[in-house]
Amino acid sequence: MVLNYLTSSIFPYIIRNFNLNKNNNKLAMVDFKALFKISYGLYLVSSGDKNKGNGFISNTVFQVTSEPAKFAACCNKNNYSADIIKNTGAFAASILQQETASNIYGTFGYKSGKDVDKMKGMDIIYGKTGVPIVKNDAIAYIECKVVETIDLGSHLMFIGELVQSEVLDENNEPLTYAYYRTVKNGVAPKNAPTYIDKSKLEDKTMSESKERHQCIVCKYIYDDADEQVPFKELPDDWTCPACGAEKSDFIQI
Ligand SMILES: Cc1cc2nc3c(=O)[nH]c(=O)nc-3n(C[C@H](O)[C@H](O)[C@H](O)COP(=O)(O)O)c2cc1C
Repeated sequence: MVLNYLTSSIFPYIIRNFNLNKNNNKLAMVDFKALFKISYGLYLVSSGDKNKGNGFISNTVFQVTSEPAKFAACCNKNNYSADIIKNTGAFAASILQQETASNIYGTFGYKSGKDVDKMKGMDIIYGKTGVPIVKNDAIAYIECKVVETIDLGSHLMFIGELVQSEVLDENNEPLTYAYYRTVKNGVAPKNAPTYIDKSKLEDKTMSESKERHQCIVCKYIYDDADEQVPFKELPDDWTCPACGAEKSDFIQI
């Protein structure tokens, strides 16, 4: 009975919340919710050229030196953009405004250039390196030439030297990751460096009984607790009641 209790409750709790520190053999607590307290901005990182352009949403663009001005951008190796930036040696980052349209997150943050032409219909200018720069919902942009690429395992960190930059809109505020998460109810998908598996955040038995799914297009939340039919049992042709997106456009949050 006691052994049963330990294996079902205490051991999983310890495994979830503590890491064995190999240097001093002490248990170190890891509270994954602490990671949400780190602040970031939100950017549309674009790459490619006139023939084939692409872009992805990133919260990991930041300035790393001032003379010369260099910027880091972290890109998952599975992202289509990773190969493009490696091959062309340039990227741009559009600094998004606070009230960025949800289709910008939906298209650039959840779809891959391997499957769709994300630049179609976008307001684009071309930089000195030939990189496409997306002006939609951008208050400014930076354009960089890659001078170093650091392999971080799952991600590549591209270090780019500033080629040019421009303010496009003086009247709007830049979007922060915190605003996207708390006001827009946005989440980060698996390829984002800040993605945290839900099982690390709360008790698995609780999350299994109360599933929540979110539309990646308009951010509408389908909460099993408030509905008569669990999300998983909805028919395949069911559509988002808010924006009409397909069931496959929902992700579990
Ligand atoms: C809020 C948010 C932040 C993200 N941050 C990053 C990031 O910093 N690095 C990254 O590689 N992917 C990040 N992603 C995921 C990519 O935008 C996503 O995988 C995209 O579909 C890749 O597009 P691609 O395959 O066309 O390059 C983020 C997505 C969202 C919604």
